[in-house]
Amino acid sequence: MRSIVSFYLLSVWLSFLCVIFVWLWSGTWRGGFAWDGSFLQFNWHPVLMVTSLVVLYGNAIVLYRVPLTWSRWRCKLSHAGLLSVAVVLSVLGVCAAFDFHRGNNIPHLYSLHSWIGISTVVLFTLQWFGGLCAFLLPWTPLAFRVFLKPLHVWMGTAIFILSLIASLSGISEKLLLTLNGRNGSNTEPYTALPAEALFANSLGILVVIFGLVVLRILSNHKWKNPQFENESDRERHPGVVFCCCCPSASRLDLLCLQGCSSAYLGCNEWLFELLLTFYQLESVWPFSSDL
Ligand code: HEM
Repeated sequence: MRSIVSFYLLSVWLSFLCVIFVWLWSGTWRGGFAWDGSFLQFNWHPVLMVTSLVVLYGNAIVLYRVPLTWSRWRCKLSHAGLLSVAVVLSVLGVCAAFDFHRGNNIPHLYSLHSWIGISTVVLFTLQWFGGLCAFLLPWTPLAFRVFLKPLHVWMGTAIFILSLIASLSGISEKLLLTLNGRNGSNTEPYTALPAEALFANSLGILVVIFGLVVLRILSNHKWKNPQFENESDRERHPGVVFCCCCPSASRLDLLCLQGCSSAYLGCNEWLFELLLTFYQLESVWPFSSDL
């Protein structure tokens, strides 16, 4: 228990450092921010991408491992909430880079960084939308959730790794493009390792350490919050129905669901009926017992 807390605190501390470093790099060495198609608009790009796809995303995916006494519903909402903010910020971040290219007649999507970057944003948006429909909307069939969960977890980790790769390649590319000692550039070349390069390289190292800490937290199954073991219970016992709308309940079998149906009916009668129908359908769903 103590080690998960230390790892989690380390990840929170590194999150702040990553945001502060990227903000200072763009704000101090790169001249600040604007939204006018100039290179100052581009400066939003690293800040928004690191904040959304590295820091917010990383924190959202370790949420289920943190030993909080939160209910399943609260964890779900926080996970979805952090990721929703990340979607908005990442789309704005990509717009900042595209606007800058358009405004300065620079071709779009020519670099390896931009290819990895655009794939990451597209996959992330699809994953977010899929997750929202499958795990947050109460009328999604339970069997479909059980079916989708392993893919969702695998894709979630893969997208995080892609975000780390995109960020590191972006930092490197930006330094190579700007600290080139050409075009009347008043900065020393990258090869001379000026203060800006040292600072931005350190940002890259922070991103790497943050990524490794998040992956370490994710890879240790002993740190899974015992509350969420229910999810695998459901996989082992497809007859169990989980209440996903009633914030006070985390797990209810069919009997309990009927038992608390008055509370349920009070909030949503048709939903209760629908869940029961899905429950009956689930018992004939060919995949549920295999998962
Ligand atoms: C998850 C993180 C990131 C993603 C998904 C991402 C995505 C993208 C995309 C899609 C483009 C293409 C824009 C266009 O073609 O008009 C781009 C361009 C660019 N990005 Fe990033 N980016 C990320 C992080 C960063 C970071 C941290 C930096 C550091 C400064 C950076 C630097 C650049 C640079 C210099 C360009 C323009 C040159 C090029 O098109 O490769 N990126 N990025």
